[in-house]
Amino acid sequence: MKKILLLALLLSAQAYAQHEQGHQGGMHEGGHHGGKHAGEHRGKHHGGMHGGGPGLDEATLKQFFEPLPASIIDEQKNEALIKLGKVLYMDPRLSVNDTISCNSCHRLDKFGVDNEPTSPGHAGKRGGRNSPTTLNAALHIAQFWDGRAKDVEEQALGPILNPVEMGMPSEAAVIAKLKKIEAYQTLFAEAFKGKDDPFQYKNIGVAIGAFERTLLTPSRFDDFLNGDKEALSQAEQRGLKKFIHMGCATCHNGVVLGGNSFKKIGMVEPYETADMGRYEVTGIESDKKVFKVPSLRNITQTGPYFHDGSVETLDEAIRLMAKHQLGRQVGEGFVRDVKLFFGSLTDKESE
Ligand code: HEC
Ligand code: HEC
Repeated sequence: MKKILLLALLLSAQAYAQHEQGHQGGMHEGGHHGGKHAGEHRGKHHGGMHGGGPGLDEATLKQFFEPLPASIIDEQKNEALIKLGKVLYMDPRLSVNDTISCNSCHRLDKFGVDNEPTSPGHAGKRGGRNSPTTLNAALHIAQFWDGRAKDVEEQALGPILNPVEMGMPSEAAVIAKLKKIEAYQTLFAEAFKGKDDPFQYKNIGVAIGAFERTLLTPSRFDDFLNGDKEALSQAEQRGLKKFIHMGCATCHNGVVLGGNSFKKIGMVEPYETADMGRYEVTGIESDKKVFKVPSLRNITQTGPYFHDGSVETLDEAIRLMAKHQLGRQVGEGFVRDVKLFFGSLTDKESE
């Protein structure tokens, strides 16, 4: 089923690319809704006038992308649970020596990352993988680069006991520690009102997960998808078109431009990495070097890039993607425009 969908996307991207080539530099004769501002550009984004070509039609956009939903959790009904989740997320006492919280590696003031290639844990030791952002992560098909946790609730229980990360010795030790903290007596009781025993290890995951479900970051791209054709400058729209035509959107699509499938790094041209990715989860030969396709929301802010954080700049990440996933050599113009488009994926509130 997934394969069929991918094939359909791939074919439509190619068909669209051919269609566009046939119209290079020309104007569309109708058929693209909301394109009446195609010749205008916003003063703030000067320089986007030339080479924009025809506007993007709604059908293509809808085929690849979906705007963020307003909400994925009832924030009123779950108020107490979300409150507890946030306190836990920020609390270094969830680590063995009271130094590391979820927020150390997934900083909410830094777009859910720490901007380090790999992250130091409670004893200063680093794991082998880059910390992905927690923003919008609840919308992914699974959690971690290799998808080994099914959702944010399950994921949150991992790092607390991970010896390199927060280093708590056992579930019982975590619960014993939290029980002694008076504020948690109230917070857990309110969050799990009417439940047998609020202090269960899995409830930590339930609460943190609920909080993470509130971490959605609407961007100008969402406004654009929702019909505001001036939300993106001409240059950003050009970048979006190039992104689609090159084939990037065959993997980076859907509501978070990724997060919805697993793909091999080095689809066309082999990519050097010792990390076997999803193979470590499934043991299936063809899953070697397969990773969850990362979301591109807030991507200009969440470097360094790739599963091991080995790619320092976004320019380099874009070039490597074109080369290894699509077998294409891209020039300055492609990198510049796609990067401009990526800028429109940043949390609107931070702009
Ligand atoms: C020491 C740094 C560190 C700490 C502390 C930490 N994480 Fe992470 N987190 C990571 C790394 C590294 C990964 C990726 C690991 C992998 O894919 O194997 C990750 C992955 C994740 C993901 C998956 C995102 C995605 O796109 O797949 C979520 C969600 C997450 N962490 C939430 C949390 C929560 C909640 C806590 C606190 C309970 C926490 N993390 C504590 C480093 C950290
Ligand atoms: C065949 C699927 C596929 C295609 C096509 C593809 N990507 Fe990717 N992309 C991935 C995967 C998988 C990763 C994770 C690679 C890794 O970490 O080793 C990734 C990672 C990225 C990253 C880094 C994200 C991060 O958080 O570290 C960026 C940026 C990116 N892709 C942009 C692009 C661009 C631009 C294109 C088109 C030129 C493109 N991708 C085409 C699958 C794809």
